[in-house]
Amino acid sequence: MKKKIALIFGITGQDGAYLSKLLLKKKYKVYGVKRRSSIINTQRVDDIYKDINLKSDFVLFYGDLTDSSSILNLIKKTQPNEIYNLAAQSHVQVSFEVPEYSADVNSLGTLRILEAIKNLNLEKKIKFYQAGTSEMFGRTREKFQNEKTPFYPASPYGVSKCFAHWITVNYREAYNIFACNGILFNHESPIRGETFVTKKIIQGLIRIKHGYQKKLFLGNLYSKRDWGHARDYVEAMWKMLQQKKPNDYVIGTGKTFTIKEFVNKSAKKIGLKIKWVGKGINEKALNIENKKVLIECKKRYFRPVEVNYLKGNAQRAKKLLKWSPKISIDSLIDEMIEHELENL
Ligand code: NAP
Ligand code: GDD
Repeated sequence: MKKKIALIFGITGQDGAYLSKLLLKKKYKVYGVKRRSSIINTQRVDDIYKDINLKSDFVLFYGDLTDSSSILNLIKKTQPNEIYNLAAQSHVQVSFEVPEYSADVNSLGTLRILEAIKNLNLEKKIKFYQAGTSEMFGRTREKFQNEKTPFYPASPYGVSKCFAHWITVNYREAYNIFACNGILFNHESPIRGETFVTKKIIQGLIRIKHGYQKKLFLGNLYSKRDWGHARDYVEAMWKMLQQKKPNDYVIGTGKTFTIKEFVNKSAKKIGLKIKWVGKGINEKALNIENKKVLIECKKRYFRPVEVNYLKGNAQRAKKLLKWSPKISIDSLIDEMIEHELENL
């Protein structure tokens, strides 16, 4: 039987790596799009990558979501059955510093892929997945967010992803493209980027515990996030494209914790006894054993406007995709700690 072909934009990122491994296990041929960088940045997929001169079901090409011609050429060349658009300037705080670039990649990049599918007359052949985000709900006041919750984005990142969401819906309705939006809540893993808060906390606390770092500096301790594991979430992406009809799906755990609760859980598992003192920007965590300050808050890590509360209701995914998260927040933290200790 002919292998299914997947083309992944954003293959060098956290989700790109987990999705590639899932699809290879399912016997796909996986093509991935990487950006040119001054130093090789394929660490997350190095374990499945073979020399380009050898035959392999995992092949990387250069391309960029800001470059329409590269997108069109790659789709033409690879003739995929499924395209996963995971590429993005994905850091919320950074999007305040590079708003125009974030919109170019995240919004127009999505449009460029959809236009390429249309212009190549591949609307009937290709199924398309768009990596949407709970950041689109932003400053919502709803206790749980689902597919019907109105968007109220609170960053250039969130706004750019709303464009990507609606243009995906638009091309589905206008040109009958099998296009799905996954609206994914935060998902983490041992290979999460170092500047996202879960990785930063676990890496920082382990380094402190083992004497490689003195302090950890954080921002808002009181925002709440619904954290899952990337391994579970890429499975939902794939399931969306295996349905009879395209649809949009919220993917989350239905549980939410503050950043401070995440710190407390992680510190306990790492074996650091901490005590919080002070208020607001002066809030600090002390090491109970030697009274040294381990964690401080810094204004630079606060955002111009914050998304305070996210909690997903993934009932549609449960019913239609038979998807529910398997990995708990405690197992996620355990796995991240184990990985960090190995790398110390
Ligand atoms: P990530 O680790 O930041 O990976 C982003 C990927 O996009 C990387 O491969 C990056 O390449 C690539 N990229 C960035 N700009 C590009 C450009 N101009 N052209 C081509 N590729 C580009 O993000 P992730 O956590 O895996 O998330 C995957 C997707 O899901 C993103 O779209 C993100 O916005 C979205 N999302 C993530 C979460 C989450 O909690 N993780 C939740 C909801 C939605 P480099 O390696 O070269 O930088
Ligand atoms: N990054 C970071 N660094 N965040 C901090 C820090 C810090 O030092 N201190 C506190 N925070 C707070 C942020 O203000 C935010 O409320 C929360 O921790 C989570 O921040 P991130 O881990 O950067 O993730 P995010 O929620 O902003 O965005 C992630 O999840 C989205 C899905 O909801 C990213 O992966 C996005 O790409 C994704 O769409």
